[in-house]
Formats: sequence, structure tokens, C-alpha cells
Amino acid sequence: MDTINIGGVKLKGRVVLAPMSGITDAPFRRLAHRFGASMVVSEMVAGHDLANGRPDTLRRTLGRGDISPFVVQLAGREPQLMAHAARIAEDLGADIIDINMGCPAKKVTGGLSGSALMREPNRALGIVAAVRGAVCVPVTVKMRTGWNDQNRNAPVLARALEAEGIAMITVHGRTRAQFYKGKSDWSFIAHVKAAVSIPVIANGDVETFDDATGILGASGADGLMIGRGSQGRPWFPGAVARFIDSGQRDTGPRGPRLADLMAEHYENILSHYGIALGLRAARKHLGWYVERAGLEPSVARTWRAEFCQNDDANAVRAAIARFGNAAHNAAEAA
Ligand SMILES: Cc1cc2nc3c(=O)[nH]c(=O)nc-3n(C[C@H](O)[C@H](O)[C@H](O)COP(=O)(O)O)c2cc1C
Repeated sequence: MDTINIGGVKLKGRVVLAPMSGITDAPFRRLAHRFGASMVVSEMVAGHDLANGRPDTLRRTLGRGDISPFVVQLAGREPQLMAHAARIAEDLGADIIDINMGCPAKKVTGGLSGSALMREPNRALGIVAAVRGAVCVPVTVKMRTGWNDQNRNAPVLARALEAEGIAMITVHGRTRAQFYKGKSDWSFIAHVKAAVSIPVIANGDVETFDDATGILGASGADGLMIGRGSQGRPWFPGAVARFIDSGQRDTGPRGPRLADLMAEHYENILSHYGIALGLRAARKHLGWYVERAGLEPSVARTWRAEFCQNDDANAVRAAIARFGNAAHNAAEAA
């Protein structure tokens, strides 16, 4: 099996769980890690917040736990602030610092960070230089193909960032102008792969095992990253990693085992956020588990309502246990 070596940090497989704000919190990453994702990345952390935050709060928020390697993604545009934030992340145990040059959100690009940095290569390089100068751990970058169709500069920028010393690059095959519309252009990522000799991770629209084969084939990338395809399926990146090695297609936990997974995820969310916040934070995840269970749409709607409109944690726990049987019957009927 090929190993991805990120500046000395060696991965056991080729499939990374994408950073997703509001989704890939510590409870979700821990599950994905345990199910065999080769690497998981924190939600983006504003460099400014990290630089101003209290370390104990941050430790809890980021939640290293047994996650290894522990990757913290930073977003920001001020080199010195990003360097300061990176030092704090390293002190909190980060094995790798990833810099966000891909986020399309107006509140991020409006602050001229995220994918807006692809329009300011000199600033992007300045940030990398400052962060690399501040920490001993490898520094990586996640980007899009470019700002818009007329400016797909990912290959050129990736090469310049490699010269500045980054250890890996991840490319989401859309431009910033596309946000999440259209298709991820897996073939374009091959231009980035050709431009650099550091590992390249390809990202965008991997929902099935065949997509995983497709993105690796079209891009020639060293590995792939899965975001939305893991919603309601924290086991999926690990299953894809095993699929790449062995061709085996795991279906993931079903029936009572699915209910066990949901129950564990639920308890972890409640203890991570506390009950009040946790009840709300869990809803989207429970909704995704329902969506993925192959139920009749009207039946799925009833379950979603049960999970999402209930303010009593014990009632939700009981519903999760009952859901196991419904999901089992749906899987049997499929
Ligand atoms: C809700 C949501 C939040 C995201 N947050 C981040 C983030 O914090 N940092 C980042 O680099 N990308 C973020 N992304 C982009 C994903 O990492 C990924 O590049 C994108 O979803 C395409 O991959 P996919 O088709 O596998 O989901 C986010 C995407 C979504 C849908």
C-alpha cells in the first residue's frame, strides 16, 4: 500500500475526512477516526479567535483526545496573527497545521481569507512563510481550483506554496464562483498533481465507492478527501480507505448496530457541548442518519420530527433505540 507522507507524518491509508464547520467537531472526528479514516481535520478555526482564546476552552473545543494525527485548520489573512494562532495550535497538540484557502463563504472571503487568498498569491505565500517560521510541525494548504473559470490558478499557486515549504495540498475541484454548484472537476486536479511533488489530495463529490475510484483515476492524486458523503455515515471514509486497499465494500452499521452508533454519537455530543447546546447540535446528525437509512420518505419525516422537535434527551435516547428496528426492517426490505 502506498503511504502518504506529510512532512514526516505518515498516514496508514489514503482517505481524509474533510473539515466542515458545524459538522466535523470533535465527537464526529473521533468516530470517523475510529472507523478508519486515514486522517481527520478540525473545523476551521479563525486564527484571530485562537490567538485571543483561552487555552482550556480551545483544548475542549478542538478535542484532540485519541485523534492522531491531530490536524487543526486555521483561517485568516494576517500573517503574524496566523503565526501566533499556529503556535497555540501546536502547543495544544496539533501534529499538522492546515491553512484554509478554499472557503467560499462571504463572511470569510469578505474578510479576504479562505478562497480569497487565491487572488492574492503574495499574501498566501506570506501567511505560509510566517506560519512555517512559527511552528515545527508540517504545514498544509486546502484550496479550490481558483477564484472563477477565468482564474484557475491552483497549479501555479500550489507550486509556489510548495517552494515555500508546505507539505501537502488538498484541492476541491470547484472554483470559488461555483460555491457548491456544478461538479467537482476531478481532471483539473491532475494539473496540480503534475505541478508539484508533495502529496496531493483530491476532493469534491465523493458519495460512493465508485466515485472514490473515479476521483483517484481522473486526478492521479495520492489520496482523496470526503466531506458531505460522510454526513450520517462517519464510517464511510474508513470504509473507502479499506475499499481502496482490498476492493471490499462495507455497507456500514445497520439496524441495532446503527442505533448503537447513533446512541454513542448522541452521548458524545451531549457531553462535548452540554445538554442545552448538545440537544440542538445533535439534530442535524440524527437527521442525516435517518436520511441514509433507506426509509419511505413519509416514515423518514416522522423519525426526523421525533429527533428534531424533542427537547427531552431521554425521549431522544428511547427514539434512537426504537429507530434501530425501523432501520433494520428497511435494510431487510432493500
Ligand atoms: C457545511 C460545510 C462546512 C464546511 N466547512 C469547511 C471548513 O471549515 N474548512 C474547509 O476547508 N472546507 C470546508 N468545507 C468544504 C469541504 O471541506 C469540502 O471541500 C467540500 O464540501 C467538497 O467536498 P465534498 O463534496 O466531499 O463535500 C465545508 C463544506 C460544507 C458543506
